[in-house]
Amino acid sequence: MKISRTFAAPSVAALLLAACGPAPSIQPDRVTPYRLANPSGMEVTLLNYGATIQSIKVPDREGKLSDVLLGFDSLDGYKGTHPYIGAIVGRYGNRIAKGRFTLNGVEYKLATNDKTNHLHGGLKGFDKVYWRAREIAPNAIEFTYVSADGEEGYPGTLTAKVTYTLTDSNELRIAYEAASDKDTVVNLTNHAYFNLTGSGDILKHELLLKADRFTPVDAGLIPTGELRPVAGTPFDFTTATPIGARIAAADDQLKLGGGYDHNFVLADTIRPEPVLAAQVYDPSSGRVLEVLTTEPGVQLYTGNFLDGSLKGKGGQAYARNAAFCLETQHFPDSPNQPAFPTVLLKGGSSYRSATIFKFSRR
Ligand code: BGC
Repeated sequence: MKISRTFAAPSVAALLLAACGPAPSIQPDRVTPYRLANPSGMEVTLLNYGATIQSIKVPDREGKLSDVLLGFDSLDGYKGTHPYIGAIVGRYGNRIAKGRFTLNGVEYKLATNDKTNHLHGGLKGFDKVYWRAREIAPNAIEFTYVSADGEEGYPGTLTAKVTYTLTDSNELRIAYEAASDKDTVVNLTNHAYFNLTGSGDILKHELLLKADRFTPVDAGLIPTGELRPVAGTPFDFTTATPIGARIAAADDQLKLGGGYDHNFVLADTIRPEPVLAAQVYDPSSGRVLEVLTTEPGVQLYTGNFLDGSLKGKGGQAYARNAAFCLETQHFPDSPNQPAFPTVLLKGGSSYRSATIFKFSRR
């Protein structure tokens, strides 16, 4: 089924439910698209599977709309094998070394799905489950997922909520909330793959990252614990620089990641309100993406493991560097790194995090 067939006609300043969401008491079992649109012409499609962002259509400098997200035309494409494209990642975004951590004196063993490490929530993470969808405002959809105690090895029943809001100023706001009945760890993010041109590679996109340090990794892409200054390295994006300018430089960290696949340090702790973390400008289309977040870190991933074998929207083969990801997050492997900002969620207390993807053009 093509998503477009299920859409109602677009209308301005309105959220369009492309299909009715399931009744709250019934576990959803099919992928359902939800569409948001605003008066400036920005359109966003969300899916209840993985609480995924399926598409973001924004105008270029001439006003032409293009979809700036990698993804699939077919809803079933999302149920196939792919690297978390557009999905919410949880219960823990990024890696946990050897899939193990100790909490309150108990060692928890998680699924190991990235060689010997745990990645993005395990074998069946939050990207591979149905979320309950609810329209909570004309421009906002809330997705809820209840993760059982012990799921993928994590302690505590965790209720996670992700709310997407499209504003009239071309912002897609993502609010994350979670609560657990037992102490656990949590680190939620969205794994959108952006290409502001809409096709080709992102090597000429200019990136500004408000980070003066990053977390170097070992061969398994697990942080060594060091917070290394970016100054004088290919990781310095404190002034806007094309992503491809230094991606092939002779640098041990770039070699380990096959390009950029690193967490950048934005702050020492979570902030109360979203703060500008990154700005990306595509000179060819004039599109600009700003990422604001409350999170202390952001993973810059430049699609290094894409190799052309994955076919996405319009049959496009997604090749290496076809997209960039800016995954707002706590640092990888934080449950095992006491010096990193904590990812502990105490039983009975709540987790909150917010990220904004704001689009404009020059
Ligand atoms: C990771 C990459 C991984 C990609 C897709 C990124 O967040 O840092 O190493 O290949 O997600 O799973």
